Amino acid sequence: VARPIKLSHYVLQSQNPHRLASWYAALLDADIVFKSDFLTLLTYDDEHHRIAFAALPPATGGQIAKRENGKPGLSHVAFGFGSLSELLTCFENAKGRGDAPVVSLHHGPTISLYYKDPDGNNVETFIECLPNAKAAMDYMLSPAFQENPVGMPFDADAALMKLRSGALAADIMAFDRTKKIDVATLGRQTLEALG
Ligand SMILES: [Fe+2]
Repeated sequence: VARPIKLSHYVLQSQNPHRLASWYAALLDADIVFKSDFLTLLTYDDEHHRIAFAALPPATGGQIAKRENGKPGLSHVAFGFGSLSELLTCFENAKGRGDAPVVSLHHGPTISLYYKDPDGNNVETFIECLPNAKAAMDYMLSPAFQENPVGMPFDADAALMKLRSGALAADIMAFDRTKKIDVATLGRQTLEALG
């Protein structure tokens, strides 16, 4: 057995790699550590690069300049934040730049806000809501998760207001399992939004 020790980085091909790099740098409060015509590298921690942007030749004729919905492939990449406050600061800043999430959900194990980058790729930002990975695994194996693996809509604006008025993050993050949710509809809307 020889498993990788980590997931390090991914690379997006784009006809606007610099625009994309700036967008990700702003969303993730990350640094551009290398920039050229062909390749731009970005990181936000001790990894030398986390996301790279590779230039595609300019679009001509029938070439696709943006990710198309409904195609097989990568749906999204998820970035974990350290606290509700940080997740919502990221949200507030993104909104201030005109980038509201396309989907906001409390999944149960995580609160997840999904954005679309300028090329149409989905990006998830999230926080863990359960105390540790074991608790999250247990929850995913529970009947509650089998019944509703999607979760429920999460109002990030309301959460931010509550947090700023002094509510406890733990209270805002509580998952109300008694709430009636049309799981099939919410699941379909989510898949469509992130298609
Ligand atoms: Fe995800």
